[in-house]
Amino acid sequence: MCGIVCYVGKNKAVPILMEGLKRLEYRGYDSAGLAVQDERHIDFFRAVGKIAELEKKTSGIEIKGTSGIAHTRWATHGEPTEENAHPQSDMNGNVFVIHNGIIENHQSIRKRLDKQGIVFKSETDTEVLAHLISLNYDGDLNEAVRKTMSQVEGTFGIAVIHRDIPDKIVVARRGSPLIIGVGEEGNFAASDVSAMVRYTNKVVHLNDNELATLTRDGFSISTAQAKSVTRTAETVEWAPEDAELNGFPHFMLKEIFEQPETIRNAMRGRLEKGEGVPKLGGIMPVWERLKECRHMVIVACGTSYYAGYVGRYIFEKLTEIDVEVELASEFRYQKLNFPSNTFIIAISQSGETADTLSAIREAHRKGAHLLGIVNVVGSSISRETEAGIYNHAGPEIGVASTKNFISQLTILTLLALLLGRHQNLSLTEGVDAIRALETLPGQVKAILSKANHIQAIAEKYYRCSNWLFLGRKFGYPIAMEGALKLKEVSYIHAEGYAAGEMKHGPIALINPGMPTVAIAPLDSIYDKMMNNIQEIKSRKGPVIAIATEGDNSLKEIVDDIIEIPPTLDFLNPIITVVPCQLLAYYCAGFLKRDIDKPRNLAKSVTVE
Ligand code: AGP
Repeated sequence: MCGIVCYVGKNKAVPILMEGLKRLEYRGYDSAGLAVQDERHIDFFRAVGKIAELEKKTSGIEIKGTSGIAHTRWATHGEPTEENAHPQSDMNGNVFVIHNGIIENHQSIRKRLDKQGIVFKSETDTEVLAHLISLNYDGDLNEAVRKTMSQVEGTFGIAVIHRDIPDKIVVARRGSPLIIGVGEEGNFAASDVSAMVRYTNKVVHLNDNELATLTRDGFSISTAQAKSVTRTAETVEWAPEDAELNGFPHFMLKEIFEQPETIRNAMRGRLEKGEGVPKLGGIMPVWERLKECRHMVIVACGTSYYAGYVGRYIFEKLTEIDVEVELASEFRYQKLNFPSNTFIIAISQSGETADTLSAIREAHRKGAHLLGIVNVVGSSISRETEAGIYNHAGPEIGVASTKNFISQLTILTLLALLLGRHQNLSLTEGVDAIRALETLPGQVKAILSKANHIQAIAEKYYRCSNWLFLGRKFGYPIAMEGALKLKEVSYIHAEGYAAGEMKHGPIALINPGMPTVAIAPLDSIYDKMMNNIQEIKSRKGPVIAIATEGDNSLKEIVDDIIEIPPTLDFLNPIITVVPCQLLAYYCAGFLKRDIDKPRNLAKSVTVE
């Protein structure tokens, strides 16, 4: 979705806002704009395309203002044009607004304002906010924004400036993320921490239906009912260089190579090795109920959903808990009826995915308990769940989620192991599982050292426009995730399929021009996978196998093989996904795609 960043302080605003926009660009990147205020003068620029286009427009121009708002857009209403880019303003050019979210009743408001003679310049839903704030303004910008909030439906994270009130920015949120940054030389607000982490790591999270006023000397928060709110700043653990490329050509590749450390970070301080049991402080507030839970529903979207799908198999293996996994966008419309003491596990990297948020609110309404597995600290899902586990995976900038997927699998394993050790798992099984978990970072490193081999395989097949990914049990969700990664970054059509389903239809697709990636480690269903691979080979379909080291029988029949170290079957997904990530990355490279910012996608989907 869109990215918002604001600054008011001692320094020139443009360089700070541009820096922030570049860090938010992964959120949406079809157009951008900024408005910078110097007393009553407002410099206002917008451009279609990447932030670089906006930079071209401002370069060489002396813009003195030390207060401003800036926006990078992911279009929902109105094509990516300069007129539809943000900031949007009122008819007199006094009020400037940037917005992340959707104003659902913008049509009816537009009709009403049309009758009042308001002339609209754009097709956006956002423009109604500029006109409403202007109409509601009588010298107090906060009151104008507060009144406007009561007149609109939908989601928003907004920032507003008024020509008559220099050095003051009013921000407000409902449903879309907005964080205040408390700095030494000024104050900030942004859609996420990465936009301001270079200047401050002191942040204050705004809750839904709250406003904040930023000035160079401080900030104040109030509710939609004009009640003042006191909230102290938290310190975020990210460092500016975490959001840097550090010599890698793309964030996706950097994040793939960070995965050994990502697994360690997910386990750090969470293992009682001697007892063969993890310790997860974040779920202790609900532990007494959770350890008695026998029914769970994992709810998520996209890659997080596939992590949840692996999670279901891991819980089935390690616990006595009946676990379902649901697509959040479907789950929220189901007739929900939970057995008592049901726990929902919401999995989300960003913690802001609208479908997942709405799904857990619906489940909570129906009496379920809420747990979160979230990467972004202080995000909406982390604050709307009763308890949870942070990934500590650091910022994930590449739109295609990689390291966070592996972190989610690691944490799902720790949670299942903890519950299993309080149910039917023995000390030995616990100790063995933790030993295998601690071996994973080295094993993933070993696979990463084969990147050139995987790149060569990608070079052989990247011209093929249709791919199939096959797996069984723990390998099935990895097949779906592998296909998603290839689709997301290379735009090649790919399907992840349960291998046992092949003969019920998809086998008709098999032909010499369609490669199949077979997730086939040595585990309980290996023989079945071998049969499926034979079926494809007998129809001249090329097969790339992801197989356990030393598996010569598979080596003899497949076209290409990527060998992975042996581990426990429920840990294989953490290992087998890495070659899939690299295949997708290298294919996208050969096809010269914009790997970190794939077309039509956004890192955090904050609208339904
Ligand atoms: C994955 O590569 C995609 N970016 C997307 O499918 C993502 O997993 C999905 O939007 C869920 O995001 P979340 O984990 O932040 O909730």
